[in-house]
Amino acid sequence: MNDQRWIAETIEKIREKISWVSEKNKDKIPYTTNEDGSYDDRSDAAKKWSIDDGLNWWTNGFWGGIMWLLYQDTKDKRYIDIARSCEKKLERTFADFYGLHHDVGFMFVPTAVADYRITGNTEARKAALHAANLLAGRFNPQGNYIRAWNDLPGQDTRGWAIIDCMFNISLLYWASKETGDPRYRHIAMRHADSVMEYFVRKDGSSIHIGEFNPETGVFVRSHGGQGCGEGSAWTRGQGWALYGFVNSYTNSGKEEYLDTAKKVAHYCIASIPESGIIPVDFRQPVEPALEDSCGACVIAGGLIELAKYVPDVEKPIYLRPAVKILKAITETRADWSRNCDAIVQNCSAAYHDSRHHFTMVYADYFYIEAIYKLNNTGILMW
Ligand code: GLY
Repeated sequence: MNDQRWIAETIEKIREKISWVSEKNKDKIPYTTNEDGSYDDRSDAAKKWSIDDGLNWWTNGFWGGIMWLLYQDTKDKRYIDIARSCEKKLERTFADFYGLHHDVGFMFVPTAVADYRITGNTEARKAALHAANLLAGRFNPQGNYIRAWNDLPGQDTRGWAIIDCMFNISLLYWASKETGDPRYRHIAMRHADSVMEYFVRKDGSSIHIGEFNPETGVFVRSHGGQGCGEGSAWTRGQGWALYGFVNSYTNSGKEEYLDTAKKVAHYCIASIPESGIIPVDFRQPVEPALEDSCGACVIAGGLIELAKYVPDVEKPIYLRPAVKILKAITETRADWSRNCDAIVQNCSAAYHDSRHHFTMVYADYFYIEAIYKLNNTGILMW
């Protein structure tokens, strides 16, 4: 089947699946599916203090993001209603404050920023700017990094920055463009510069967690984080780096960010297995054969985005592996049936977790986003 036909057929399947899944789960904010295949709900305000399953859970923006992606495609206003219901719930986290973290970008870019960009909703703009201020407040000018997480039991995380934050800073770039105030962009670029210097290794792979001395700003060490170990290459982290540096280039125009995105992309392309099925860590042992379809979709999205900024002759270098990954997901790791609310199967949150090969709402988000990108009908999200 040629690629255009495959993309068109996949979009049809996405429309069909999300149509009933969204109706069934319209009052929830899902993260994963339960044993019976139905989505769980992270929007329980009573659990707002829990880092694991409360309203402030870091993936809570992706359900709304899926709704905006489907709205831009179908113009079905039902998707706006569900996205706004999710957005309103997320706004409640501002009042509590303590539960919020570096992932306010992941929470509010695909919800409030998307709403404002698509509909001009000024209430959404206000919420997104509020979130941007919270994120900017996490910046440490000693070390030039945005602090990850809050106090974790038994860990001093004051000096921790993580590769994932390359996505959160899109919120800061947006806030500068929106307000004309360059402070947010300066913070985003200083953070990106530090990540470029200390996170991206010479071979193009990226560490997950970098630790700075929070008083002096001196870089101390890396941590394995959600990957296999220190010195490894957590695949979703490679995706956050690759796609995140493309976003930083698009938002700032700084060429070194594009070069860095290419460097990480080349490392990823060289590491993609023949099957197109992506492991949890590119440096994990052969057995157990743990997979992460979510990291796969993030990498694919980054490769497609990167292809936009290279000469025509170079585009296939990035598009071919992206299509390979997405076809592997579509043909072997996607559930189009009514037995499961999620599409993308076999995701893993972290290499050392006891649980693997389950569904994660952000895998569906990045899968759908990537397919629309391939179709040239996506919206600017990050
Ligand atoms: N941002 C955390 C993760 O990718 O799991």
